[in-house]
Amino acid sequence: MKQLYLIGFMGSGKSTVGQYTSEKLNVEYVDLDMEIERIQRKKIVDIFREEGEETFRTYETETLKAVWDKVLVATGGGVVEREENIRYMKEKGKLIYLKTSFTVIQKRLRRDHSRPLWKDTNQNEALFNKRTTLYEQVADYVIICDDKSLDEIVEEIVNIYTYNGFLSCEE
Ligand code: S3P
Repeated sequence: MKQLYLIGFMGSGKSTVGQYTSEKLNVEYVDLDMEIERIQRKKIVDIFREEGEETFRTYETETLKAVWDKVLVATGGGVVEREENIRYMKEKGKLIYLKTSFTVIQKRLRRDHSRPLWKDTNQNEALFNKRTTLYEQVADYVIICDDKSLDEIVEEIVNIYTYNGFLSCEE
């Protein structure tokens, strides 16, 4: 069995795209952030505030490994911060980068307060640029999302899934 991991910056649509794609493909799906919140019984903002980012990253790595049985995984934007996570995902399956411009992300997250690393300063753009380099380095597939509908994005992932023989593959 191979996994498909959706990667990309906060607000790039990983969770929404993941949910729709899993319904279309009828495969087991998990949203990593939601799984962390479920296991820790805490909202991500509270984990960051009370335990700090490093502890969150440790939960993230543990949870990534705990969801080995899911076919499709929507990751958090910072999953690429740890080499260990990249190595693990690369070993297990394919990484699909939902590439979305900073302008679109800024619009989407204008009123967002649920993401501790999305701040009201130009730090956002610096983080975006740093992460973009990482996503591009590690991705097996890049989907340019800006001018595409949800259906179009989902269709591209379905094609990747089918092309890779995930439907019949038992590795
Ligand atoms: C983070 C992204 C968030 C969440 C946490 C940290 C990041 O996930 O994991 O707030 O470091 O970019 P989304 O990408 O789903 O917003």
